[in-house]
Amino acid sequence: MLYVPIVSVAAGLKTGDVHQNNEDFMADSFTIDFQAHGKVETGDLVVFVGDDLKPSGAVAAQLGPKAVDLIAKAAAAETFKGKAKSSMSIVVPADLPVDRLVVIGLGGEKDRAGLDFVQLGGLIAGKVNGKLATVVLDLPGIEVSPEAVADIALGAQLRRYSFDRYKTKKDDGDAKKGGSLVLSVADPAAAKKAYKSREGIEQGVAIARDLVNEPPNVLGPQEFAARAQELSKLGVEVEILDDKAMKKLGMNALLGVAQGSVRGGRVAIMRWNGGKADDSPIAFIGKGVVFDSGGISIKPGAGMEDMKGDMAGAACVVGLMHALASRKAKANVVGAIGLVENMPDGNAQRPGDIVTTMSGQTIEIINTDAEGRLVLADVLWYVQDRFKPKFMIDLATLTGAILVALAQEYAGLFSNNDELSERLTAAGKATGERVWRMPLGPEFDKMIESKFADMKNSAGRFGGSSTAAALLQRFVNDVPWAHLDIAGTAMGSPATEINKGWSSGWGVRLLDRLVRDHYEA
Ligand code: BES
Ligand code: MN
Ligand code: ZN
Repeated sequence: MLYVPIVSVAAGLKTGDVHQNNEDFMADSFTIDFQAHGKVETGDLVVFVGDDLKPSGAVAAQLGPKAVDLIAKAAAAETFKGKAKSSMSIVVPADLPVDRLVVIGLGGEKDRAGLDFVQLGGLIAGKVNGKLATVVLDLPGIEVSPEAVADIALGAQLRRYSFDRYKTKKDDGDAKKGGSLVLSVADPAAAKKAYKSREGIEQGVAIARDLVNEPPNVLGPQEFAARAQELSKLGVEVEILDDKAMKKLGMNALLGVAQGSVRGGRVAIMRWNGGKADDSPIAFIGKGVVFDSGGISIKPGAGMEDMKGDMAGAACVVGLMHALASRKAKANVVGAIGLVENMPDGNAQRPGDIVTTMSGQTIEIINTDAEGRLVLADVLWYVQDRFKPKFMIDLATLTGAILVALAQEYAGLFSNNDELSERLTAAGKATGERVWRMPLGPEFDKMIESKFADMKNSAGRFGGSSTAAALLQRFVNDVPWAHLDIAGTAMGSPATEINKGWSSGWGVRLLDRLVRDHYEA
């Protein structure tokens, strides 16, 4: 098959309406600086204690025995015991240089041994709300390397992310906007250098969150593709396939989903060539349903607004490509996203329809709400056929059933390859974006057999996540492949230490870590 890159700038495209670019994000964010221990600023001073309530040497040296005393007294008055994640704030006497002491507990030895620095950074950012805070990163009983400092800074930035560009009245929450965090550390130059390599990740997560948060009237397939196109500023090669190009390629499964929407579909292909010229690429594929009404098999009204987030897989791929290109990752990487809107108009696909995919295999549509697998079937095939990748990983908010199985704690991992699964699991443990392996196999494959076509797109409720994955597997030849069902982790997320909630940017840190640990020259 011959692939002619089609770079289309569709008529009527108003990218100006979509604000999700870095510049916006950076303007909203506060600054992080690094300094050596010793200097005391006005504003908040954040210090740490274990369950013995003793601040570190750097704090004691900086503020003198009076401050150490003060902490002990305040702790008694407040029944603060230095437990992990607990905190107290003290308004200080006039003769101390700072305005307020924020004391954060690190707990006992066990808590401290398992300390997650990204989470700690988020916790810190959640405790300070002034314009300026100095954080003394001399943690009692814990070695704080420059890498750890960088992780803390990353966590703090992630926590500060907010999405309020559609709020015209700026109210209370805005007191927490802007400001700066000064991290007082042993080696500021080394910390700064380590943090530099985190900036792209932080921006990548913010981009993914922004895309998921954007309302579906603003972010359609074309606008999303335009956002992917912006990566070309970082040296990423971007191609956009429009409806005509997809038709020519035979992507009828994807087009069948798109046909009920007046907005048409797009596939965006992003290529970062940071590796050796002859090295085959690794590939990431994302489901980008900008809004999933269910189509003719329409969803119930309650909560349907959340289906603007049904493009979180695609958002993650764009955020990841940004992160990798920003830090000039030494790897050849393909990102490909299928962008459609699933709507029920007079031209919409029906249950009973049969579509012929790009691979030639036919699919009977049982339920038009099982649309993600149709989009991915064609994009997976396209990527495998054109790029002959080392592996393919797809991310998709694919099934409600994965929420039944794993809640919002783990993404479902389905894979034909143990090594890739183990690497993903390890990267998940390291980043806190955890995955749990789920079954694939002939039993599930059998469940999607169709009376009228090669397969059907829905096999009912039982094993819903595995039968969805089984359909995807029919579009994967012998290349190592993993499918991540992120319906539970990427959208509708609860607030955490590093995220105020709803859109988490899930997967950017996980996959950046996977690439960093295993696939860079
Ligand atoms: N986008 C949904 C899955 C989803 C559910 C994502 C909840 C996020 C939160 C997907 O397209 C869908 O509708 N799946 C159906 C499949 C069924 C019709 C076989 C589902 O899970 O109910
Ligand atoms: Mn659906
Ligand atoms: Zn969907």
